[in-house]
Amino acid sequence: MSDQHGAAGRHGAPGRRVVVLLGAGGTLGSALARAFATEADTDLVLSDVSDAALAATVEGIAGGHAKPETAVADVSDLAQVEAVVRLAVERFGRLDVLISNAGVLAQNGRIHNLATADWERSFRVNVLGAVNAIHAAVGPMRRQGSGSIILTASVAGMTAWSHSAPYCVTKAGVIHLAKVAAVEYARDGIRVNAVCPGTFLSGMHTELPQKAIDAISAKHPLGLGAADDLVGAYSYLASDASRWTTGAAIVVDGGYAAP
Ligand SMILES: NC(=O)c1ccc[n+]([C@@H]2O[C@H](COP(=O)([O-])OP(=O)(O)OC[C@H]3O[C@@H](n4cnc5c(N)ncnc54)[C@H](O)[C@@H]3O)[C@@H](O)[C@H]2O)c1
Repeated sequence: MSDQHGAAGRHGAPGRRVVVLLGAGGTLGSALARAFATEADTDLVLSDVSDAALAATVEGIAGGHAKPETAVADVSDLAQVEAVVRLAVERFGRLDVLISNAGVLAQNGRIHNLATADWERSFRVNVLGAVNAIHAAVGPMRRQGSGSIILTASVAGMTAWSHSAPYCVTKAGVIHLAKVAAVEYARDGIRVNAVCPGTFLSGMHTELPQKAIDAISAKHPLGLGAADDLVGAYSYLASDASRWTTGAAIVVDGGYAAP
């Protein structure tokens, strides 16, 4: 996956690469965990708020090269995210890549029908979770003078979805957060980028009727994706191949946002 060992940042030191993945349970998290676990040079720390989802991810990578460390943590709580980063640094000595992948889709509804709690939960997990990931990661990355932070956003942060305001607004916030953080930390050797997936079926869609899924699929010229279709973008951003890429929102969406 990485073309130069341990070279996640522009000046990454040669050696092993340490990757922390927040929101490692679920569909995309488990696909990313499986992919990074097959990298012989990579030490992996996996975290999720759900113990069961985390355990399922670990079970899915049992045949991989790396034995991951795991920690249950809620991304909306800075102290818990800092504990995950501390685990990575204490166990493996450094932090090269942090992926902020936890996310929630609020209740469907027009703005006047949504509750304040829908907005608060979306902001706490989607935006504050990404803020906390950056806050916790930049300590060790600044000391090293290198690092790559990857935030999972969505094409929902670039296009307007009716009945999904909290998701669209918070994912737009994640995209802009990546840009601001990229500017703030470039001189520390830290790159910050967002990945904007189109739709792949996951735990987020369990309550959608087939008719709605068909309608979403029809808006993707290449059809619905799968979590594995996203792995290449994360691999790129976690490797030295992306050493001159920061503040970018990389769209991987089967053509959804093209029209
Ligand atoms: N599925 C899609 O079509 C799609 C499209 C664009 C972006 N995304 C984004 O991809 C990411 C992964 O979503 P997915 O589709 O795999 O969904 P998923 O529901 O399968 O996985 C989401 C994971 O986030 C975890 N999580 C939720 N709240 C958390 C918290 N407070 N702290 C830590 N972990 C928490 C959940 O336990 C779950 O394991 C999300 O950020 C989502 O917004 C998904």
